[in-house]
Amino acid sequence: MEGSKRNYVDTASQFSSAGLVIRQKEPKNLEAPFDPIDSYLTPTELFYIRSHFPTPALDRASYQLRVDGAVERPFTLSYDELRSMPSETRVATLECAGNSRVFLVPQVQGAQWELGAVSNAEWTGVPLRALLERAGLAEDACEIVLEGADRGTPKEEPVPPDPISYVWSLPRAKAVQPEVLIAYQMNGRDLSPDHGFPVRAIVPGHYGMASVKWLTRIQAVREPFHGYWQTSDYAYWASMDGKPVRRALGEMQLKSEIARPRVYETIAPNRIYTVCGAAWAGETDVIDIAVSADGGQTWAEAEFQDPVRRHAWRRWQFDWLTPRKPGPYTLLARAKDARGAPQPDAHDRNYGSYVINHSLPIEVFVRDAEDSCP
Ligand code: MTE
Repeated sequence: MEGSKRNYVDTASQFSSAGLVIRQKEPKNLEAPFDPIDSYLTPTELFYIRSHFPTPALDRASYQLRVDGAVERPFTLSYDELRSMPSETRVATLECAGNSRVFLVPQVQGAQWELGAVSNAEWTGVPLRALLERAGLAEDACEIVLEGADRGTPKEEPVPPDPISYVWSLPRAKAVQPEVLIAYQMNGRDLSPDHGFPVRAIVPGHYGMASVKWLTRIQAVREPFHGYWQTSDYAYWASMDGKPVRRALGEMQLKSEIARPRVYETIAPNRIYTVCGAAWAGETDVIDIAVSADGGQTWAEAEFQDPVRRHAWRRWQFDWLTPRKPGPYTLLARAKDARGAPQPDAHDRNYGSYVINHSLPIEVFVRDAEDSCP
């Protein structure tokens, strides 16, 4: 089992006033506390924040969304015009592709996310396809480029010569799916500045990098878009005829995480302890979840608390009769999806420091509380 050690114990975390773990203050990179997981929808103030540049100051009155490129009728929408269009509300889990990076051994560069660069919310907005239909998408348009208002110079090599904005392209086939929203509300309230106010894309089933915040332009293109973010940053090694090629990340991969117990928690022997967590997948459903308390030698079925809902996580729980024998124990959770695939037990190195979706080891100590060190 890969990743049997963690790179560090998070004893010195700083927390935002709302209770998010601060991985970086500016630009804002804050992790949701994953262990409570007591509500299906993550409260907005506890939803993780992942931003590459400072939050841009946008206001409703002057906001404009441009739809152009390979379309017959390019147009520009004001905020009020967007809000007057028929809307939809959907639940979707967003996971940052670098979530759980701290579990990679040896340590890799990048924000050392633990378990909380994932959250679940209800989003309201206009389906992207309604905007593309209105614009008359050209038959030969192959991708839809989404552009945010934030700008800056990335730190990671190769550094582009001039400041760039945050831009991500979606394959046409995904962009026209009904679940892809141009959203203005999250959990029933207008988006907050850090989550993309006034308007963002929500691309359910894809890693979070596709859900472009502070969206100002939707551009259809006839050639594949090879922008910085999807070539230098959020990309992986695929194989073409046995030869490695760089591809943009897309669909979220099947994953489950244990929320409780926490790493290195002390647990009393010979008691029932309710292990709990959540599991999610990209374009399929999570249908099975099992837990191991002996590092993967034996597994027992856990129970789902939430029903199947495409693109949203399912919380689960398992009543563990803790061992009588004190000592260290390693807990694992393993999900299966409707395609029949189990969650992997090791990280796929073709993904570099992303897509950390293997069963993550949670080490705990079984002993009586009075035996623990002061
Ligand atoms: N959109 C813009 N404009 N700028 C960004 O830095 N970060 C992306 C995505 N959209 C980003 C962005 C990444 S990497 C993730 S994981 C999600 O936003 C996080 O969304 P959240 O901050 O609302 O949780």
